[in-house]
Amino acid sequence: MVKLGMILAIESTFDETGAAVVRQLGDGVEIVSNVLATSAEMHEKYGGVIPEIAARQQIMTILPVITEAMEKAGVKADDLDSVAVTHGPGLIGSLLVGVETIKALAYVWGKPLLAVNHMVGHVMANWIIDGAEKEVPGLPAIGLVVSGGHTDLILMKSIDEWEWLGGTRDDAAGECFDKGARILGLGYPGGPVVEKAAMEVRDEKQVFSLPRPLLHEDTFDMSFSGLKSALSREVELLGEKMTEQKAKLLGRELSDAVVEVLVSKTIKGVEKFSPKSVLLAGGVAASKRLREELQKKCDEYGVKLFMPELRYCTDNAAMIGAAALMRPKEVEILSLKPEPGLETV
Ligand code: KG4
Ligand code: ZN
Repeated sequence: MVKLGMILAIESTFDETGAAVVRQLGDGVEIVSNVLATSAEMHEKYGGVIPEIAARQQIMTILPVITEAMEKAGVKADDLDSVAVTHGPGLIGSLLVGVETIKALAYVWGKPLLAVNHMVGHVMANWIIDGAEKEVPGLPAIGLVVSGGHTDLILMKSIDEWEWLGGTRDDAAGECFDKGARILGLGYPGGPVVEKAAMEVRDEKQVFSLPRPLLHEDTFDMSFSGLKSALSREVELLGEKMTEQKAKLLGRELSDAVVEVLVSKTIKGVEKFSPKSVLLAGGVAASKRLREELQKKCDEYGVKLFMPELRYCTDNAAMIGAAALMRPKEVEILSLKPEPGLETV
């Protein structure tokens, strides 16, 4: 059994490079330091993430980010009990940087190496206890994991036993926001810019209507690519008549449609499994609208909703540390390889 204590965790799956030092606090996880470097500005320029650019940035930033996280935590290699890294899912180039770096450090420092599934990391962000005496989620729980690449509904029977209930058949919810924002000319990343646009016209009369795919189907399946196509059609139909105001109204409708489907499928899980908690996780969990609508429904059903603080929703290394502590999976150092297509469960 690996001694956990103090863990250094690395996140390098997509366009962020993160390092965090974490340790156990009660039933949860304390974040001792958490450092994040992003190449988002560069990707904003191109309207999306260019894998090659992301990986090159990560090669340059990973060691400074690790050094800063350890300095901020006031720890040296000797103080660490183990090290952890995300090995997937993600972009192969980005994953390689994180995985190879941590393998070298684990080897040289002689520390046990823990491998973390990035999506599990998102979920385990709900176990982060920051300062205040925040509770940890009661189990079983229904988890809605929504990011740029994944949309999964899971049943967490225990910390280790997870069942996949359903998810998207095509695009992820975050991907729908990212593509939708591009179609509407709102910028990148899609989630926050669509949300901002939607908020600006929240009280105006809505003149657009987009579909709510699979909303009334009695399954946990979801689908968001049709929504993107419907949005494209509206924009084409408008042609010259497109205005900034109309783009914002369409953004609001897109956000309302995605949120309605996500909340409805999550509540379907609550009705079926009567869990103790509902967990929200992943970059899209930063959506104010999703947080508010899901909170209303959970209150109605009398089930406790857990959502990570905003900075722990989008990619970060603290959540990788949290998962490493709560669900330690030790691996043989030299055998660890990136797994770009790793599934959530
Ligand atoms: O988890 P994450 O940081 O990276 C992946 O693992 O994919 O999620 C990124 C996704 C992007 O699609 C982004 O548009 C979305 O999360 N996102 C949001 C918000 N902030 C980020 N979606 C809706 N509302 C937000 N405020
Ligand atoms: Zn993520």
